[in-house]
Amino acid sequence: MNLIVDQLTKTFDRTPVLKGVSLTVAAGEFVAVVGPSGSGKSTLLYCMSGLEPATSGSVTVMGSRLETLNGNALAALRRRHVGFVFQSYNLIPSLTARENVALPARLAKRPVAAGAVDAALAAVGLAERASHRPSALSGGQQQRVAVARVLALRPDVVFADEPTGALDTEPGDQVLDLLGAAARDGRSVVMVTHDLAAAERADRVLVLRDGLLHRSLIRPSAAEILAVMK
Ligand SMILES: Nc1ncnc2c1ncn2[C@@H]1O[C@H](COP(=O)(O)OP(=O)(O)O)[C@@H](O)[C@H]1O
Ligand SMILES: [Mg+2]
Repeated sequence: MNLIVDQLTKTFDRTPVLKGVSLTVAAGEFVAVVGPSGSGKSTLLYCMSGLEPATSGSVTVMGSRLETLNGNALAALRRRHVGFVFQSYNLIPSLTARENVALPARLAKRPVAAGAVDAALAAVGLAERASHRPSALSGGQQQRVAVARVLALRPDVVFADEPTGALDTEPGDQVLDLLGAAARDGRSVVMVTHDLAAAERADRVLVLRDGLLHRSLIRPSAAEILAVMK
């Protein structure tokens, strides 16, 4: 299993947000976690990706338990194995699409092959826009650059926080296609979303409620997810 979460809890200022979440994600799986706004989806993603420490419980990424790692080791594990697609894209405005995609590899001092950056942009359909800055791209194009930036490094585990949240249906579909393709390519993809049409595209849907995962559905329709959330 690329990702193993065992009895994860997270409490902010004595308010428990996650109360014992357990899940596993294998290579090649596209998993969606759904829940209403404020249910702790982003918190779960931050804890699973090592951006936030858990209050208790354990998170194991590619065989390493995050809570046993010091800051440097955690950063190294994240650079090596983890990609994170933020809801707000987090692109650097002064850099072109190509420079944005190349940046993590440069920061990780792990240069990707010369063609890999352009290949990643071509894979998301933006070869022609490589020299554009984010301000010259639509929201959907910016999110695809953000996805290309993550996928260029071929991380074993990809986390995506509401990756379609700011997009219309068609650009949102393109982003979901890319995440699904990344899973078929052997990555583990975990997406959190309140958008049931997006969740419907995953292999497995986990429903977060009251700080716990209370149902797991295999390839459900949006209507089936909605019925369980009620
Ligand atoms: N850094 C933080 N400090 C205090 N409370 C937080 C923090 N981050 C999130 N919360 C609280 O945790 C709960 C879950 O938030 P979040 O994980 O962002 O939910 P979701 O992504 O499902 O909308 C909310 O009540 C939110 O106010
Ligand atoms: Mg959120």
